[in-house]
Amino acid sequence: MTDLSDINTYINQLYEQETRLTKEKFTHTTQLEDFSPVVDDDVARYLKLLIRMIRPGKILEVGTCIGYSTTSMAQVVKEYGGRITTIEYDDKIAKQAALNFDYAGVSDAIELKIGDAMQILPSLNDKEFDFIFLDVDKRLYPVLFNDCLRILKSGGLLVAEDTLFPVLELDAKWHDLIEPIEQFNQQVIHCPELESTLLPIGDGVIVARKA
Ligand SMILES: C[S@@+](CC[C@H](N)C(=O)[O-])C[C@H]1O[C@@H](n2cnc3c(N)ncnc32)[C@H](O)[C@@H]1O
Repeated sequence: MTDLSDINTYINQLYEQETRLTKEKFTHTTQLEDFSPVVDDDVARYLKLLIRMIRPGKILEVGTCIGYSTTSMAQVVKEYGGRITTIEYDDKIAKQAALNFDYAGVSDAIELKIGDAMQILPSLNDKEFDFIFLDVDKRLYPVLFNDCLRILKSGGLLVAEDTLFPVLELDAKWHDLIEPIEQFNQQVIHCPELESTLLPIGDGVIVARKA
């Protein structure tokens, strides 16, 4: 039986020659060595494609890290004048992200908020964003769910990475993240305001549209 990593390897090989910005290049040109995992190339491609199709004016990313997903999205957003607000609470990592945004020439499309998403999200306005990408500490997904729904416009998209954790073979150190992801998936699927699907790319990407 083919598993998810074989599928990802095949897809990445197909796109190898086509992808200008890759996770490998991005992480290798980053000086900082200790940071959380960033999205896989297929997830970056999917985010870019979604954004190109729906042209969201205001994007919120929760969990910047060194800014690979932010930079991928910003390359498209810059073309039509959209804006990305991205949140990272680790000062050192946020500074590296800011350097990476400058290097990639996308800083002018990005507002980097350095702080705890748990405090920042409640301070954001109702229906402020057209698109939210959730890729923060997995324990926060169910906690931030109601705020994500509140700040998302009608017709907007909520996209969240790592939502197949409940079925992936994870290292024991990640096992405490399975329950919150399961809880979040249930919140999304049973929310009457959301229409969604869960795609087997990256570590599972759930995409939900608010009615
Ligand atoms: C999985 S990484 C994000 C990867 C990024 N989206 C990418 O693909 O390039 C998650 C990031 O969220 C940050 N983080 C974790 N908890 C946070 C919180 N409460 N508030 C803000 N950032 C947080 C971590 O420091 C980490 O850098």
